Amino acid sequence: MAFVLNGKTQAIPADWAGETLLFLLRDHFGLVGAKYGCGVGVCGACTVIVDGVATRSCITPAESIEGSEVRSVEGLATDGVLHPVQQAWLDLAVPQCGYCQPGQIMSAVALLNEFSSPSDADIDAAMDGNLCRCGTYGRIRAAIQRAVEAT
Ligand code: FES
Ligand code: FES
Repeated sequence: MAFVLNGKTQAIPADWAGETLLFLLRDHFGLVGAKYGCGVGVCGACTVIVDGVATRSCITPAESIEGSEVRSVEGLATDGVLHPVQQAWLDLAVPQCGYCQPGQIMSAVALLNEFSSPSDADIDAAMDGNLCRCGTYGRIRAAIQRAVEAT
């Protein structure tokens, strides 16, 4: 079994096939950007992009991603240049504790891949499932609009 992880073909070891995608990424591949929050698909801390869609990796079986393209927050920057969403997050100092932010960023990237110029309603709908205990929602919306302007 194989899949493409951040642009590189990788094997899914048989003994990881029954685990979740989140644990495969964190514990097998050492990519700890995606976070374990609720573990049941309701907080968004574990969000990665699978075949272009923002996906809760904590409830995605590793075996189900065979043949898919997975992008994690570690795979956003290219040649040392941050993705426009990452840059906007830095410019507006979005994170507070930071725990939810990789998932927030991946949901925002998936949104902008679908809508190059999202309305506030598009943003609210796309980001609705990503919870932030620190309440950074206002800065998240502003950063998404800044990323739109920058691209
Ligand atoms: S940890 Fe996956 S949605 Fe909460
Ligand atoms: S920045 Fe702390 S939970 Fe979102």
